[in-house]
Amino acid sequence: MRLGALIEPGQTVYLSGELGSGKTTLVQGIAQGWGSTDQVTSPSFVLINEYHRPDGAVLFHLDAYRLQNSLEGEALDIDGMLSQGTLVVEWPENILSALPEEALAITMRWMADEQRGLVLTPRGKNYQDLLADIRQQVYGGY
Ligand SMILES: Nc1ncnc2c1ncn2[C@@H]1O[C@H](COP(=O)(O)OP(=O)(O)O)[C@@H](O)[C@H]1O
Ligand SMILES: [Mg+2]
Repeated sequence: MRLGALIEPGQTVYLSGELGSGKTTLVQGIAQGWGSTDQVTSPSFVLINEYHRPDGAVLFHLDAYRLQNSLEGEALDIDGMLSQGTLVVEWPENILSALPEEALAITMRWMADEQRGLVLTPRGKNYQDLLADIRQQVYGGY
């Protein structure tokens, strides 16, 4: 996934969508594009999953599905994760006020067996730039 190659340390991606819409699968694709050397795991019962890269960078995958409210989110060291690396959050709605306001928000929906729909919404200037870079890579330059 091209997004993986473009996100930078300190940046956040939100992944929303119903159960089964493909969020966890997309994180695995992002981690691959990002350059993870770790084996892909199925983190559905793990709260935080870390991916590593040879240059020392870390990609955190936080699955907030089982978290009830932002207080539980605040118990996690989200600032610490962002100071060390990149953060991708599934079910951000569950802990929204514990998360940074600025992020690339992705909403997924099931379209057909092999097809998922993605809507990308930048929240904040840095993420408008990130989305512009993604567009450039996907649709090419002029
Ligand atoms: N783009 C895709 N094409 C085909 N199957 C997919 C795709 N994305 C996800 N799936 C399948 O859909 C199921 C649910 O995906 P998952 O990523 O766990 O969803 P979520 O994390 O949103 O609940 C899995 O069996 C997965 O293999
Ligand atoms: Mg999931």
